[in-house]
Amino acid sequence: MRIGILTGGGDCPGLNAVIRAAVRAVEVDHGGEVVGFHDSWRGVLHDEWEPLTVDRCRGILPRGGTILGTSRDQPYQQPDGAELVGAAIARHGLDAIVAVGGEGSMGVVNDLHQDGLPVVGVPKTIDNDLAETEMTFGFQTAVQICTDAIDRLHTTAESHDRVLVVEVMGRHVGHIAVWAGLAGGASLTLVPEEPFDIEEVCRRIVGRHRLGRFASIVVVAEGAVPVEGTLDVPEPEVDRWGHEVLGGIGHQVASEIKGRTGIESRTTVLGHVQRGGTPVAFDRVLGSRFGVAAVDAVADGALGQMVALQRDRIVRVPVADAVGHLKTVDREMLRTGALFSSPDPGGRGVPRFSRD
Ligand code: F6P
Repeated sequence: MRIGILTGGGDCPGLNAVIRAAVRAVEVDHGGEVVGFHDSWRGVLHDEWEPLTVDRCRGILPRGGTILGTSRDQPYQQPDGAELVGAAIARHGLDAIVAVGGEGSMGVVNDLHQDGLPVVGVPKTIDNDLAETEMTFGFQTAVQICTDAIDRLHTTAESHDRVLVVEVMGRHVGHIAVWAGLAGGASLTLVPEEPFDIEEVCRRIVGRHRLGRFASIVVVAEGAVPVEGTLDVPEPEVDRWGHEVLGGIGHQVASEIKGRTGIESRTTVLGHVQRGGTPVAFDRVLGSRFGVAAVDAVADGALGQMVALQRDRIVRVPVADAVGHLKTVDREMLRTGALFSSPDPGGRGVPRFSRD
């Protein structure tokens, strides 16, 4: 057996676990070889790669990032992209390319499969928004990093009687925000799934402070949006791949809280800290299971499939089923999070807060 492997899109703790596991499965179970393409599909299109062996993969399990590098380049950005992928597969004598990536990458896997090329997908994203898999690796690490940060922010918020707004990743969904908000005991959590009313946010905070708790932690997913017509949000920048560069809603929420309630408010944007460094044990294990399962899929000729976690079992799903829609935060999680949020005292307008 000969497989190619690449990592695409934003990096994510646990990618190296997938690579290491796939290499071991190919070498040990099949006596085969692995071609590691650099920087996602760029390495396939420009023939930049390295041979991956069990030896080469020693020591990478606890390392964040990806030893192969990543990018948002993909074949369909150029007219002859799919042919170039086919040529690379033929040149290296590959049974398939295993592509580890998020929703965008799974879309590419689906398109290549439709074009008759041998590909298998492995789902990856710290946002945990990929459909058809109950969990993606990287997510638990991100949640832990956010929870640790929130634990630290509580004591400084309390010391200064401040509102501290914590902006976390989650461009379309609020899985990280809801899990970290719940684990960290946030006073309020704002997610893309439920547009927020800034007046209600302020009422809740003032209500809480009137009860004698003079500090609040507000967790905001970077993709959280206000109810239409309630707050002007600047258009995000777009990078050279057409990918919106999010980040900034946390500052806006803090500034509105300060302006409307008079309570001192600051923002912490956790940003790429959430994606860096050592994966937690769960992500190493899930990444390893996905790596082995992807090689099994190639061995079984299950092309055009994505490996996934369902009911704690590793399964295969047609990659077509996983693209075009996202896994949003479900009602049970939203309800549980809401139960621990500061209640809305109701009424119209925002009363200003004073301790006198
Ligand atoms: O999709 C995963 C993610 O971490 C998002 O939460 C975030 O918006 C995005 O990647 C940031 O990507 P980049 O580092 O390329 O701007």
